[in-house]
Amino acid sequence: MTGAPRVLLLPGDGIGPEVLEEGRAVLQAVAPDVRFEEARIGGAAIDAEGAPLSEETLARALECGLVLLGAVGGPRWSHLDPSISPEKGLLRMRKELELYANLRPARVVRALADASPLRRENVEGVDMLVVRELTGGIYYGEPRGREMRDGVPRALNTMVYSEPEIVRIARVAFETARGRRRLLTNIHKANVLEVCAFWNEVVTKVSREYLDVELEHQLVDSAAMVLLRDAPRFDVVLCPNLFGDILSDEAAMITGSLGMLPSASLGDEQRGLFEPVHGSAPDIAGQDRANPLAAILCVAMLCRYGLDRPEVADRVERAVEAVLEEGFRTPDLARGRSGERPVGTREMGKRVREALA
Ligand code: IPM
Ligand code: MG
Repeated sequence: MTGAPRVLLLPGDGIGPEVLEEGRAVLQAVAPDVRFEEARIGGAAIDAEGAPLSEETLARALECGLVLLGAVGGPRWSHLDPSISPEKGLLRMRKELELYANLRPARVVRALADASPLRRENVEGVDMLVVRELTGGIYYGEPRGREMRDGVPRALNTMVYSEPEIVRIARVAFETARGRRRLLTNIHKANVLEVCAFWNEVVTKVSREYLDVELEHQLVDSAAMVLLRDAPRFDVVLCPNLFGDILSDEAAMITGSLGMLPSASLGDEQRGLFEPVHGSAPDIAGQDRANPLAAILCVAMLCRYGLDRPEVADRVERAVEAVLEEGFRTPDLARGRSGERPVGTREMGKRVREALA
């Protein structure tokens, strides 16, 4: 990349704009050379432009290469035909930018171990990374849709993976495991689904290039259970698209709040989309109640993977931990304990910026 890095801001819907604003302010503070652009996605784009992702916005995302996104969706648009739903904008963006690898780290920070719905002793030390395949599987498989068969209405989707799609995401998972605790848990449902049996075979083949990483296969239902009983055992968790969507919400909640979890979507090109795992939370939108830390931690991931500035990423992550240690809590993190200092979205963002200094 030459010249000043360009970051496209896509605030989206619900709490997206307010959390993204705090993310933007942090990025500006730690990377003053970044030039920002802004466009619409999701319901906001449907209202203003008639589609959840316009060609212009897509072209700008491709030009900038780096995209910071808030959230998409909400009940206001739930009556629309699924082909133009807010979510379709995000799905198309992921596909067109070829961002097939979605990294969703879930870590229990010390200050928040008591915020987890699980007992402290079951979550202390959780430090896992869900590597979710993001541009294939049942999300995109054909045939799909509704149809009439013998006069009976029905609907279908298709879970399909090609060998190269599995190989490339498996490589990302093994490579990341190498920089961590070297345990890779591959999630599947091969006792029922042919596509998963094939997925497992391909992952096992790839594992021969990574003999220093331990590979284990685990059924998705059993993984959902082990996450509640013994989450600290997981290191890197490799998932097809749908299983990764589900397990990453569960992993996120274990860490205390969905409001804490960032994600990075990457591909082979120098591109990246950074978005909180949480959704648009329309019930609390515009009330200064949303937790901006996931969006701020997305900025850390953008610095690490998009700008290749790991030391800046570390600095942002340390600042987030510092404000949590100081007791600052948005409502989703508050548990009514002594020492908690309730704050809103904006003040939480401000405290992080102060902690950076
Ligand atoms: C996520 C979200 C999206 C997904 C929705 C909004 C399409 O749940 O990023 O986890 O299912 O991928
Ligand atoms: Mg999800």
